Amino acid sequence: MIHDPNRVYVFDTTLRDGEQVPGCQLTTPEKIEIARELEALGVDIIEAGFPVSSPGDFQSVVEISKSVSKPTVCALTRATKGDIDVAVESLHYAKRPRIHTGIGSSDMHIKHKFNSTREKILERAVDAVKYAKRFVEDIEFYAEDAGRADIHYLAQMIEAVIAAGATVVNIPDTNGYCLPNQYGEKIKFLKENVQNIDKAIISVHCHNDLGLATANSIAGLENGARQIEGTINGIGERAGNTSIEEVVMILKTHQKLGLHTNINTRNFYELSHMVSTQMRMPVQPNKAIVGSNAFAHSSGIHQDGFLKNRENYEIIKPEDVGFPSASIVLTARSGRHALSFHLERLGHHLDRAELDETYKSFLTLADNKLNINDDDLLTLVYGQSFSKVSK
Ligand code: KIV
Ligand code: ZN
Repeated sequence: MIHDPNRVYVFDTTLRDGEQVPGCQLTTPEKIEIARELEALGVDIIEAGFPVSSPGDFQSVVEISKSVSKPTVCALTRATKGDIDVAVESLHYAKRPRIHTGIGSSDMHIKHKFNSTREKILERAVDAVKYAKRFVEDIEFYAEDAGRADIHYLAQMIEAVIAAGATVVNIPDTNGYCLPNQYGEKIKFLKENVQNIDKAIISVHCHNDLGLATANSIAGLENGARQIEGTINGIGERAGNTSIEEVVMILKTHQKLGLHTNINTRNFYELSHMVSTQMRMPVQPNKAIVGSNAFAHSSGIHQDGFLKNRENYEIIKPEDVGFPSASIVLTARSGRHALSFHLERLGHHLDRAELDETYKSFLTLADNKLNINDDDLLTLVYGQSFSKVSK
């Protein structure tokens, strides 16, 4: 198989990093339903869980492995034989199994989490990869807190784990600490200084503590990473993970980057709703790509421009992400153009004088009522009184 150098692999961790969020726990059947939708979306890898963490997580990895056939199914472990043994067992039915093992790489984690030294941690990293490799060919290694790690030590660790058999090397900005240029530089440094880097795919795994997860992931891809890890709706620990829908739509919108994925973007909206409902985690209305206001135009200037040519205010077609349609929301900030658009839709063509008159009544109504619906518009046209209007 010829490897396409511009292909970006999408690694979904909604069911692992996303599901770690308090209150978002799912049952195994719910996870299977989401996994099947992720398969339909076209993700390349599904991180199905952390099998050693609980019997429920173990069972979910088993059942997801049986339920999907196209994506690789991945199980997370710490760098211990015990974790790896359990993960191997959980992946028994997976057609394409992957073990995701790793350990802290920053001095902060080495000293204050493991009470250890750089040398001993390096040894544990290599041992874990070698051990996992006995059972599974596809091994991803994560260098936890790589965002704050010393770059020379990180490069040494990455070189050693690739030599031990890692096929993917994950460089997590676990704490969402890096600036985009810093994270991009890190990936560039690894690409240029790790001698055997061509034997592995570099993966970006960014958290959103400073709101930079998506920007950092893109910076990583621009500098040579070819796998992006994230979740649907950006759910995840603390401020969350990178939103898969954001990264994928950035690559689609900015074709000059020359990178592409295998994602069926039209499935985003429905899957976003499924994840939000099952995880009891509402999507903020202004969330990029999938928020309820992502394609709603409400100010008069924008509505007028949009109605003249959608592309004045629309860089993504709503239908490309499965969004029902763009909407022109009527508020007290709307202009005549938006009002006449909706009246025409309801079958009423008003001449200029009639529109001016109706617009005055409309503004009075809109100043007093949050949502203007079709009934309100018809009432305006037929000259009904506004006395029954409720705020
Ligand atoms: O954020 C992180 O470092 C992780 C690893 C376990 C991959 O989620
Ligand atoms: Zn993470």
